[in-house]
Amino acid sequence: MSVHTQIKRLTIPQLQAMKGEQKIVSLTSYTAPFARILDEVVDFILVGDSTAMVGYDMPDTLSITVDMMAQHAKAVVSATQRCAVVVDMPFGSFQESPEMAFRHAAKLLRVSGADSVKIEGGEYLAETTRFLVERGIPVLAHIGLMPQYFHTMGGFKAQGLSDEAAERIYQDALAQEAAGAWGIVIEGTAEPLARRISEAVSIPTIGIGASPACDGQVLVAEDIFNLTHGRIPKFAQQFSDVAAVIREGVTAYATGVREGSFPSLDHCFGVKK
Ligand code: KIV
Repeated sequence: MSVHTQIKRLTIPQLQAMKGEQKIVSLTSYTAPFARILDEVVDFILVGDSTAMVGYDMPDTLSITVDMMAQHAKAVVSATQRCAVVVDMPFGSFQESPEMAFRHAAKLLRVSGADSVKIEGGEYLAETTRFLVERGIPVLAHIGLMPQYFHTMGGFKAQGLSDEAAERIYQDALAQEAAGAWGIVIEGTAEPLARRISEAVSIPTIGIGASPACDGQVLVAEDIFNLTHGRIPKFAQQFSDVAAVIREGVTAYATGVREGSFPSLDHCFGVKK
């Protein structure tokens, strides 16, 4: 057996063990420079398919491919050492059959080195979760507002607002737990529902527009750093203004170039001091 340099990342069982002990902190990242900074702070990075909208300016998340997700996840894994990395299975890569889901999930983990996949879907996808978990692929389930179901939901709308709809989402959570999901992302649901789910299941719930009672939180990083195009969602908050810092930097650079103060001879090769 060869000896490898050991990178000590948080493992999926360690994340699970945080339930009831400490809140799990997660943000999305799709690229190495962001991931390197997040790695110092968060417990897991989600390489979300939201990169379709945030990184590529697509109107929804449906057009991103397995190969694109694999490359984003690979960049994030190679730039991180501490946090776990979870990669989204994109639309069309898992819904057809458990076997198809396994092929794509295996490819995502093999190419990127990520620790887990995430799939959007509740009770009716529990069989797929079980199939993946039994074959060694950790699954983070995603229920409630599922952006990949944008067309059937009629847009990005809060879910589970009626008693009947809330009960369906509750059953989704129980089914995913029973199938072996290690955690559940609950997105865009009425507050009491995520609280009820968090109390009922023994695996961590990760909220996004769901409830402070969830065992952890995830947000799209660009939404909290003022890098989102347009309005940020109701459930996000601007924690810093990275856009302002970049704007200041690019303005200073442009001024330097236009006024001739940049580059100076210090930035040139072969200049004898
Ligand atoms: O794709 C994504 O970024 C997500 C979340 C924000 C939960 O699924």
